[in-house]
Amino acid sequence: MITLRPATSDDCALLRGWEKQPHVIESGATNDDWMWETELLVKHEWREQLIAQLDGRPIGYLEIIDPSLESSHYWGDIGPGHRALDIWIGEPDCIGRGHGTTMMRLAINRCFANDEVHTILVDPLASHMRAHRFYEKLGFRKTDRRYFGDDDCCVYALRRADWAS
Ligand SMILES: CC(C)(COP(=O)(O)OP(=O)(O)OC[C@H]1O[C@@H](n2cnc3c(N)ncnc32)[C@H](O)[C@@H]1OP(=O)(O)O)[C@@H](O)C(=O)NCCC(=O)NCCS
Repeated sequence: MITLRPATSDDCALLRGWEKQPHVIESGATNDDWMWETELLVKHEWREQLIAQLDGRPIGYLEIIDPSLESSHYWGDIGPGHRALDIWIGEPDCIGRGHGTTMMRLAINRCFANDEVHTILVDPLASHMRAHRFYEKLGFRKTDRRYFGDDDCCVYALRRADWAS
C-alpha cells in the first residue's frame, strides 16, 4: 500500500541518494538544487513536501505547491486556485509498477479536497515523452511549452472537472 507522509530533515540522505539515480537525473526532476539540508527545515503554508512509502518503505518524493504564493515565483504571474506538483520515484525497482499513478492519485485528491483549487499543473521536460504519457493517462492536457530557467518544458494541466469525470 502506498501512503504519503511529511518529509523531514531525517530524509536528507535519502533524497540526496535518489538524486544520483540515473532515471531521476535523466528526467530532469532534480536539475535545480532542492537544497534539502535547509529546505526540509522550513515549513511554508504554500508547500507540502511528502515522502511516498510502499508498505512503510520510502520510495519517492512528491511536492505540492501553491504557485501563486511560492516565494521564487517559479510559475510567474499566476492566479489563485492552482497547485503545482513535482514527483519522482527514487528507488529503481519501484518504477513502472503503478506506484507513480497511485502517488499522483493521492496527491490529486489531496489538492482537490480544497474547494478553491481548480487546476493542477506539472512541467515535465519537453523531451521526457514517458512522463507526458504518464500525465496524459491521468487526465492532464498539454497547455503550453515554455522555458523554466534553462529547461525546455511542457506544461500540463488537470482541471477539476476533468478529474471528476
Ligand atoms: C514518472 C514516474 C513518477 C511514473 O511512475 P511509475 O510508477 O513509473 O509509472 P506507473 O507504473 O504508474 O505508470 C507507468 C506509465 O507511465 C509511463 N512512464 C513514465 N515514466 C516511466 C518510466 N520511467 N518507466 C516506466 N513507465 C514510465 C509509461 O507511459 C507507463 O505507461 P503504461 O502503463 O502503459 O506502461 C516514475 O517513472 C518516475 O519517478 N520517473 C523518474 C522521475 C520522473 O520522470 N519524474 C517526473 C518528472 S516530470
